[in-house]
Amino acid sequence: MKISISEHSLPRAGAVAVAVHADKAMGASAKALDKSTKGALSKAMNNGRFTGAKGQIVAINAPTGLSVSRIVLFGLGKADKVSVLGLQDAGGKLVGQMNGSGEKQLTIVVDAVRGKVGKVAAADAAAEVAFGASLASYRFDKYRTTEKADKKPTLKSVAVAVKGAAAARKAWAIKNKIANGVVVTRDLVSEPGNVLYPVTFAAEAKKLSKLGVKVEVMGAARMAKLGMHAMLGVAAGSQHEAQFVVMQWNGAPASAKQKPLAVVGKGVTFDSGGISLKPGAGMGDMKWDMGGAGVVVGLMTALAGRKAKANVVGVIGLVENMPSGTAQKPGDVVKSMSGQTIEIDNTDAEGRLVLADALWYTQKRFKPSAMIDLATLTGAMIMALGHVHAGLFASDDDLANALHQAGNDEDELVWRMPLHQEYDNNISSDIADVKNTGREGAGSITAAQFLKRFTNDTKWAHLDIAGMTWSTKAKPTVPKGGTGFGVRLLDRLVADNYEV
Ligand code: BES
Ligand code: MN
Ligand code: ZN
Repeated sequence: MKISISEHSLPRAGAVAVAVHADKAMGASAKALDKSTKGALSKAMNNGRFTGAKGQIVAINAPTGLSVSRIVLFGLGKADKVSVLGLQDAGGKLVGQMNGSGEKQLTIVVDAVRGKVGKVAAADAAAEVAFGASLASYRFDKYRTTEKADKKPTLKSVAVAVKGAAAARKAWAIKNKIANGVVVTRDLVSEPGNVLYPVTFAAEAKKLSKLGVKVEVMGAARMAKLGMHAMLGVAAGSQHEAQFVVMQWNGAPASAKQKPLAVVGKGVTFDSGGISLKPGAGMGDMKWDMGGAGVVVGLMTALAGRKAKANVVGVIGLVENMPSGTAQKPGDVVKSMSGQTIEIDNTDAEGRLVLADALWYTQKRFKPSAMIDLATLTGAMIMALGHVHAGLFASDDDLANALHQAGNDEDELVWRMPLHQEYDNNISSDIADVKNTGREGAGSITAAQFLKRFTNDTKWAHLDIAGMTWSTKAKPTVPKGGTGFGVRLLDRLVADNYEV
């Protein structure tokens, strides 16, 4: 689907969408159309439930006296309260609706009052509508070969019409780069494990070089030299070689001498549980156990795409967790890169083993100003927070607060969870320095305590995105499937806190 920004005017063909505010208060374009249709819009509102409340949509098909195929009214709620997120949702909902309607072409008209739509400048308002439309148009359909035409989305192009199109185009160009990052993550998360395994995932990350990101890919031999036996132990049962990828985006001017922000991702391309094998039902979900690593690659795509003025390193550990004669076993002891020995109590608690070495490596090599990891780490996180908030664990209050704020601004919500010495006590081992499970409840917290032992007191935050990476319920800007959750959150964190 093609998205463009055009100068403010009513189109002659295709569908035209115009805003209505709370209590049936028509925007300027709605008023104009109501006039030229001799009151068809007022009639549609008076004969139905549509009041202009946020999120409402009603369509008037084949309006008499006009050459457009339909007029779509979208509710934006109270005129002075219109927000960035409300505009994104409007763009998303319109695309969702029109894609199922047979319409090929949609023009969304953005009416500004004194240069603003609610609290948002007109140019940004148009860009946010386009952003929502773009996010909603995502589909992962490369493996469908027999889909009937009448099931396919129909929209080919969306134009957002606004006064001052040039400024809006500039704003959209940046938002578009962020949308591209989200798409990269959604694609990675959606790929099945037979296609996306450590080597092929690393090849995808390597493509970031084209955007000016420095990408290093290390194989198992190099990892062994570095002493990453916690990560390598997870890969021991797999036919697929482990990979370790470091991506550097140096967008801050050299004169700023900015220490990098580091973002670290769990990249388990398939998690069978290993010898501690998972039950069969739903095991296929574990193709998206690389969601954290997927966010890191999507984030780097967004940052490099929009040339963010910040230094950010992305680090991902890529392994497949499989049972076999060479797999690691419960009771095994491995030595991590940090030197700490780990008793493997359960081979299904593998994500923390991957991150143990990735976090240690990252702080040691880069001395980052802060380190944030993302991981589909625990089923317990879904028990606690469901699919509404990601779990946030942090050793630093400012970092936690900044993440919380960024999450609210982007509608990628996080909720802070506790860390405490008493939880840490649950992972002490009788044979090694630490064991990889707690066995006394609070599974997400003990997992976070485990990670903390490998941060070497670097400012650190951990996002357990187990409940957020995949969705079975569509939202206006997030279709079912891979969500890309985390890309927008971290892009916003960088924009508001790290760019010089
Ligand atoms: N990848 C899983 C966690 C997960 C479960 C993510 C469901 C998304 C949906 C992780 O590796 C895992 O298996 N964790 C175990 C830990 C346990 C063995 C201590 C879990 O949560 O059951
Ligand atoms: Mn597991
Ligand atoms: Zn896992």
